[in-house]
Amino acid sequence: MRAQIFLCLTEMVREKFGKEKLGLILDASGLSDSKVYMRYFNGFDFSDEKFFDLVRNLCRILNITKEQAADTFGEYWVCVYASREYPQYYQNLKSAEDLLIKLDSIHQDVTANSPSNIEAALPPRFDVKSTGKNAFRVHYKSKRGMIDFYIGLVKGVGVYFNTPVEVRKLSEEEVDIRLGTPDAEQGRR
Ligand code: HEM
Repeated sequence: MRAQIFLCLTEMVREKFGKEKLGLILDASGLSDSKVYMRYFNGFDFSDEKFFDLVRNLCRILNITKEQAADTFGEYWVCVYASREYPQYYQNLKSAEDLLIKLDSIHQDVTANSPSNIEAALPPRFDVKSTGKNAFRVHYKSKRGMIDFYIGLVKGVGVYFNTPVEVRKLSEEEVDIRLGTPDAEQGRR
């Protein structure tokens, strides 16, 4: 998995829960050695197993569930990290619906040109079908089985566009999403 996911997770923990907690989580995950840590800042790939181990330790040390971790990560990724690191994908976005529909091509694009020190990335795929006005059924496909993160990220899209979002998990590969009307005042845009 691309190291950006790891870098975002550690930044999120530092910002929301503090440096000390981040230190404990990295220690527990065998990542505290600065040499190991710096590899990822230099663009090396991050193994999926390491990521799941990190999330397990994070949940235990912060005393939160995997779903809560995924929601906090999702909002931070969409509203802070990706909007800062990948502004090109935010240009010309019209709405939460627009971003949800473009996600499949965004993930294809962002993982298309792997630097030589990174194994070929395996981006998640998203098949979005309309099931009514502002309603969608999404088929999420990834060998990593991270649908809880997908759900947290969808909620983050709602926060970014200030649009109420309801997400219902149907299985480990399918969700129903209903979008409300954007509220006038708040939101991050
Ligand atoms: C718009 C900015 C976004 C960018 C640039 C972006 C980019 C990325 C990248 C680089 C990865 C790692 C992929 C790999 O290493 O194979 C990833 C993973 C992932 N992304 Fe995004 N992403 C964005 C937004 C979103 C949103 C809004 C969602 C869901 C609503 C989402 C869902 C996921 C999921 C679930 C994964 C975990 C990997 C997996 O399931 O296999 N992403 N994303």
